[in-house]
Parts: sequence; C-alpha cells; structure tokens
Amino acid sequence: MSYPYQIKSFDEYKSEYQKSVADPAGFWSGIAEHFSWRKKWAEVSEWNFTEPDIKWFKGGKLNITENCLDRHLEYNGNKPAIIWEPNDPEEHHRVLTYKKLHEKVCQFAHVLKNNGVKKGDRVCIYMGMIPELAISVLACARIGAIHSVVFGGFSAQSIADRLYDAQAEFIVTCDGAYRGAKDIPLKSVIDDALIGNRTVKKVIVCTRTRTPVSMLKGRDVWWEEEMKQVEEKGLTFIEAEEMDAEDPLFILYTSGSTGKPKGVVHTCAGYMIYANYSFINVFQYKPGQIHFCTADIGWITGHSYIVYGPLSAGATTVLFEGVPTWPDAGRFWDIVDKYKVNILYTAPTAIRSLMGFGLDPLQGKDLSSLNVLGTVGEPINEEAWHWYDEHVGKKKCPIVDTWWQTETGGVLISNLAGITPAKPSWATLPLPGVQPVLVDEKGDEVTEATDGVISGNLCIKAPWPGILRTTYGDHERCRTNYFATYPGLYFTGDGALKDADGFYRITGRVDDVLNVSGHRIGTAEVENAINMHAGVVESAVVGYPHDIKGQGIYAYVIYQGMHGGDTELTRKDILQTVTRIIGPIAKPDKIQFVSGLPKTRSGKIMRRILRKIAEGELSNLGDTSTLLDPAVVDEIKNGKL
Ligand code: PRX
Repeated sequence: MSYPYQIKSFDEYKSEYQKSVADPAGFWSGIAEHFSWRKKWAEVSEWNFTEPDIKWFKGGKLNITENCLDRHLEYNGNKPAIIWEPNDPEEHHRVLTYKKLHEKVCQFAHVLKNNGVKKGDRVCIYMGMIPELAISVLACARIGAIHSVVFGGFSAQSIADRLYDAQAEFIVTCDGAYRGAKDIPLKSVIDDALIGNRTVKKVIVCTRTRTPVSMLKGRDVWWEEEMKQVEEKGLTFIEAEEMDAEDPLFILYTSGSTGKPKGVVHTCAGYMIYANYSFINVFQYKPGQIHFCTADIGWITGHSYIVYGPLSAGATTVLFEGVPTWPDAGRFWDIVDKYKVNILYTAPTAIRSLMGFGLDPLQGKDLSSLNVLGTVGEPINEEAWHWYDEHVGKKKCPIVDTWWQTETGGVLISNLAGITPAKPSWATLPLPGVQPVLVDEKGDEVTEATDGVISGNLCIKAPWPGILRTTYGDHERCRTNYFATYPGLYFTGDGALKDADGFYRITGRVDDVLNVSGHRIGTAEVENAINMHAGVVESAVVGYPHDIKGQGIYAYVIYQGMHGGDTELTRKDILQTVTRIIGPIAKPDKIQFVSGLPKTRSGKIMRRILRKIAEGELSNLGDTSTLLDPAVVDEIKNGKL
C-alpha cells in the first residue's frame, strides 16, 4: 500500500494544516477517497456543537472490515497482519497473515450470526490479549454488531453495569487470561456479572488457560465447537454488512468526573478515517514495518493503534498478551529484538516502571530495528523522556508524545515522527483538522502569555472525523459533559500550556478525573465504591503525584466501628471492596481515616484543601475561613500519610 496522504516534511505539515482549516470538506474528502466505499458520501460533514449533532461522510456506505482486511488480500494477503506474542516467552508465537485473519474473522462472524447476533446488537467482549480478541472485534464489525470491549481487569460489578447500560445480549469471553504470573478467571467473573442480568442470551467462551469453568446449558457455548461447525461446512467467507457512515461501530466505557462510566460511541466511517490518518502520519508508518503498541485492546489505544489504525493501513501489528516486567523487566526489549519491531508505542508509566530496574535488563539487547518511539496516556516527565530517548531509542529515534482521549478516537496533538519538531514533555502541534484553543474559566480565549506561555483549559473549536458522536443511551450526558461547559466548544477536561511556537503541553485533568498509570478513574466512582463498605460513613478521594503511576489515589475515609481499632484490617477490607466494585486498578494507594471532612457551610467538600494535603503542601492551604469546622483541617494535616 502507498499512503498518498502521508505528510513528508514540516513545510508540508504547515500547508496541510492550513488547508484543513480553510477547507475541511476538501481536505477530508481528499483523504476519504483512498478508502473502499460501497457508496460515496453525499456530504463531507454537517455539525453543530449545541445539541451536539455531528456527522461525517453523510450518505456514505461501507464496512470497516473491507478496509482493514479485504482490500489487502490481492497484494498483501500473505503479509503478517497480526504477530501474537504469548505471555510465556517459551510458548510458540502465532502469525496471522491478512488472508488468515480475513478467514478467521469471516468464520467467527458466521458463529456470531449462528448464535443470533444481528446488525446493531451490542456484544460485550471480555478477553485477554489473544488473537481471538481482535478476531471478535472485527467479526462484530463485519456483521454490523456494536462491540463493547471491557478491559480484563474490571470486576464483575463493573461488567454488570456496562452490560446493563448497553443492554447487551451477547458476550464473548475466555475461560481465563494470562497476565505475567497471574491467571485471571474471566469466565467466572462473567458468571458473577450475569447474576440478575436479564438481557444476555449467549456467552461464547474461547479456551486459553484451561481454567475449569461452569457452562450454563442453553446460554454458554464454546468458541472452538462453534468454529468447528462453520469450518466443517467449508465456510471461509461472509459478505460484509453494508453500514451507513454514521452507524455505530463500537461503545467504549470511560470514566468521567461524575457518576458511572459513560459509553463513548464511535461511528464507522469517521472513526476509521481518523484512526488510519493519524496512524500513518504520527508514526510515519512505512509498508513492511512492524508496529508494536503495548496497550490493551480494552482501552481506546488498543482499538485505534493495535486494531483499526494499523490494519486499515495494511500494517503488521504486534499483539502482546503479557506485561512489561514478566518474566523479567527486559520483556519489551526481547519482543523488539525477536520481531525486529520498528515502532514502539507505550505509556510513560511503563517507561518509569522499567527505569526503576536500571539498565541491566537492557544489557545485550540490540534494539537497532527501532525507528520511532511513542508515548500516550499521561504527561511524560522529562527524566522518563530522556531515558527512553537515550537507552531505548539510542538517540536516533524520534519520540512522539501523543495526546488524545477515548472520546477523540485518535491522536489530536502530537509531533509527527521525524517530520515536525519534538520537545521533551510537550505534545507539540495539532494534527491537520484539529483546532485547539485555550480558554479561561468563563470560556474566553486566553491570549495573554506569562513568560511566553499561555495557560488555559483545552478545548477544540470544530469537529474532526474521529470525535465521539454520543454517549450510549444518554445523549444529554454527552452534551453536558463535553459541549455545555463552554458553549460552541468541545471541552477536553485537560489543562494545557501553549508556547510562542504554538506548541502545546498537556498539564493534566482539571476536573475530578484521575489518571493512574494512564488509566482514567473518576474520583466519584472510587468514593461510591468505598462508601459501599459497611461502616464507611463518608469518603473523599483525590489524586497526588506518584513517581511511577503519575498519579496515586488518596482516600480520606470517615469510618465507624473499626474492627476493635484494627485500622490495618479495615484498610484491607476497603481495598477489597473497591476491587470488587470496580477492579484492582481503582484501589487507593493511601487511606487516611478521619473524623470529619472539610466542608463549606452549604455542605460541599473542599477538595482543593484535601488535594493540597495529599500533595504534601501543608503550609499553603489557602482560605479556610468559609469552612463549617476549620479545626478538622488541622486534624487531617496531623494525620497525613
Ligand atoms: O488527561 C489526558 C491524558 O489521558 C486522558 C485521556 O484518557 P483516556 O480517554 O483513557 O485515553 C488515554 C489514551 C488516549 C486525557 O484527557 N493523556 C492522554 N495522552 C496524554 C495525556 N496527557 C498528557 N500527555 C499525553 N500524551
């Protein structure tokens, strides 16, 4: 494949950017014409940010899997689409060529149909990182079912909430998953999630760990047996469902500052084009290169840069089942050497954790295949950036610091590898088609710089094709969350700086969303989980700087009747509760028991004060005179962990 819309120089970037702002329709239609369409679009875009109502390539008909699979078969059918590296390096890896992947996707699409899945149905996918996960995702897309992948680390309760919200009727899962030294009993978690569920009709279970599972008659079926039936009929193809450009492709749940996670909805054409365009330009992918994104497909990074971006570009994508530190902290480097990886895309938290092991795990690793490095998920500190540059990239690989979100579908602000300038810990410039603006609390554009730098809340002025269209089942929530804070703008929830060159640096969330090891967690969600524990009267959760995770979770808890004063046991009980309600990723790092929380006279918790105490800034707590009981602050300060 060639990529006529791959930007080749900084000057070209500037002219493409200008074009994308002056004539978005001309710009995006020039890109869209390089894809396979069943029917061409009538209108490139139609939108308003008031309702919001956003449409791209209106009237167009297509199927994303024809773009990710079928169109590569003629010339690249025997090229590896997916290289799968198992958790255990001793186990044999697997390579799926485009032809093989196409066949498997078609066969599993038959399985889905045989089990009653139809266009528009919601299919929850809860699996470990094995090729069958990508196959499931693509098979749903093949027949027009809406996939909702749930990360394998979420609890039964979290899955139950997501199943209910999406009114999902089908689940694809595994007996279990391997992650480092752990076996996660996925099917058993699904069984718990299904207690009391009224919508799910079928559960398809793929074998991976041979963990004993209970299979409910009439509801649960084995992946292998279902596939065998299709294979025995000699079926290797299924016609792709013709989808409208704006039909939903998937739902992905993500945390917000209030309430339960919301189901971000992406649609077929716009998402595909943006995932592809950003993949090709940010990473400067060249045909034949090996791309390794270390994320899990349970997050948006895996959707866009393991599955849809690379496959739509005919690229070879590495899918890794395990974790960076098992069996030792050299695992990423072994994978890079084993498959001659050219592009490595990971998270700052992984880099910081590997830095902690020193340089020994890098001894004897070649890494000379690497051309491009990338980071995503959270701000990268300069120390980690330089370590990555020196010890992994050997100072010859551009590092792309890619800023984006579940809601944006693909990267919005990043340097383009080797094409536009990099600046450590700065995401730098917006991609063509993306118009950022920094606003103050009132929503007015900030123009005044301090020491050459503008600071404000990051918004985007106009839509790009990959922007979310709604939050599943609750459009009003989408409006209030993203489009109501600053009318006429998409509000990202992030704060940012902009320097004199127009480079952006993302400083972090300005709302009550935490970013722990690159995972988004709402403080309200964690509080609700803690409050479920018998004995907890009230709690307040804030973030604090954490050397490896970026942010840690600090919980202040009012508790009654403490195991006869055994705070350690109570602490463990609370952690257990949070693990049950959300999952281990939401466990607080610190729990401080308090007798009261700082509240205003109207009963609002003053989080600003709690945040400062958690950050260790005890001397500068600001005005506490409006508090109902200022004495409580001293008590909390004295008990700080
Ligand atoms: O705060 C920003 C941070 O991650 C948030 C989005 O999280 P999520 O939807 O889970 O998607 C993560 C992967 C795209 C953002 O609001 N974030 C993401 N990338 C960066 C970042 N913060 C700083 N620099 C980045 N490169």
